[in-house]
Amino acid sequence: MAFTRITAAEAAALIKNGDNIGLSGFTPAGTPKAVTAEIAKIAHAEHEAGRPYQIGIFTGASTGQSCDGVLAEEGAIKYRAPYTTNPSFRKKVNAGAIAYNDIHLGMMAQDLRYGFLGEIDYAILEVCAIEDDGKVYLTAAGGISPTVARMAKKGIILELNAHHAPMSHNIHDVYEPLDPPCRKPIMIEKVTDRIGTPYLQLDPSKIIGVVETDLQDEARDFKDADPITDKIGENVANFLMNEKKVGRIPADFLPFQSGVGTTANAILFALGSNPEMPQMQVYTEVLQNAIVDLMLQEKVKCASTCSLTVTNDKLQAIYDNMKFFEQRLVLRQSEISNNAEVIRRLGLIAINTAIEVDLYGHANSTQICGTKMMNGIGGSGDFERNAFLSIFTCPSVAKGGAISSIVPFCSHIDHTEHDVNIIVTEQGVADLRGKSPIQRAQAIIENCAHPDYKQLLWDYLKIADKGQSCHKMSAALAMHDTFLREGDMHKTDWASYVK
Ligand code: COA
Repeated sequence: MAFTRITAAEAAALIKNGDNIGLSGFTPAGTPKAVTAEIAKIAHAEHEAGRPYQIGIFTGASTGQSCDGVLAEEGAIKYRAPYTTNPSFRKKVNAGAIAYNDIHLGMMAQDLRYGFLGEIDYAILEVCAIEDDGKVYLTAAGGISPTVARMAKKGIILELNAHHAPMSHNIHDVYEPLDPPCRKPIMIEKVTDRIGTPYLQLDPSKIIGVVETDLQDEARDFKDADPITDKIGENVANFLMNEKKVGRIPADFLPFQSGVGTTANAILFALGSNPEMPQMQVYTEVLQNAIVDLMLQEKVKCASTCSLTVTNDKLQAIYDNMKFFEQRLVLRQSEISNNAEVIRRLGLIAINTAIEVDLYGHANSTQICGTKMMNGIGGSGDFERNAFLSIFTCPSVAKGGAISSIVPFCSHIDHTEHDVNIIVTEQGVADLRGKSPIQRAQAIIENCAHPDYKQLLWDYLKIADKGQSCHKMSAALAMHDTFLREGDMHKTDWASYVK
């Protein structure tokens, strides 16, 4: 069966005010790019004509400028879940103009299936090949494609992207679990085990049309590593080497998950460059640039990921060496890459970046000074809660030193003290395992706080009321409050907060 070719504008015209769309992709990798850009044009015209036009978006993780960016700028997003990194979207969320549901990425597909998030009208999937019986091959991400395709009530639009034609047809492992009470064990026992099919089988009768494109991923580049991120990487590597030496990590190591961003990339590089590190294995949701290089150098022997969140030159390096990568790399759905059962079975070492951590080990990954969304929780909660070792990293200060990333109490908590084992800054490592709250506070101030903030934090403990967690509630957020009022946490005066 040959599927009808349509233009992106024709596909976009199907999507009406109030519809919910479900997208392929995970980060800008694998996300459709042509139809959403045309939807933004329709929103613009409708708004100019004084008519309402807003849609809901369900996707795997962040998208690119041609989705979250243009749609947010046109005021066309009513509701969206989950994670996003787009600055225009962030601005609208922080102005209260978009209902943003920041849920764990590993839960997204199942929450849709459970009916927690509403219905999907159309699925838009980016693919690199289509067979006549409705088999399609996904591009650079697994995302939540099987679920949105199956649930789409009004049909499926395919973006057939020639740019991804070199993608191997063997690299994906497409698998959608059954729902309780019928779910079967997710039988991944090794990083590269396969449990599904390399293609996604669609119902051919649901395919409304195929939009042909030739567009590269709107990959985000991160800031370059700097002496601070390099030092964090070195501290993580030294800590883990010692864990191996004392026998808490097996000699041939455990698989790694590593988060997103500049710090995460620097840590991976430091781990890969450490001469004592055996060949690494990676089980993660986003495969960043550093892993591509480490795989080519055979320092990483294999990887499982939900997406290739790499710059376009690195994606090209993968395409240029497709035979090499298809033997070592598996792309999965986010509910499998981030699956609690698999993460615990494999015993992952999870390393994610926090915005701030507090004296007792709670971590804030998402919100600045308690109210302003940065990106979202992503998969950090999926991994950190279930890992063999849960590590959070961050530079000890932000905004040129005006902010301490170590605070008495996090202004927003994504990961609780019960889930965080290790905190690493460029200053050092706080090992929180087996410690009481006050012992944790001492370890964090001593090893992780910036020298400019140590005394301030010790002084907080002096004014804190005794308890399981020692706090002075009137002063617990004083450092944030001082920053918001005076632009510098150094100026915190505990006396003025003690009531
Ligand atoms: N208070 C205020 N702002 C802070 C801050 C703090 N304590 N710590 C960092 N920031 C700001 C930085 O100044 C920077 O702002 P800018 O863009 O205006 O320069 C921004 O937050 C990002 O910080 P950066 O140092 O560039 O960090 P990064 O690229 O390593 O990203 C996170 C850090 C936390 C934003 C990112 O890792 C994230 O979104 N994490 C949540 C999702 C996640 O963990 N996913 C993991 C699975 S992939």
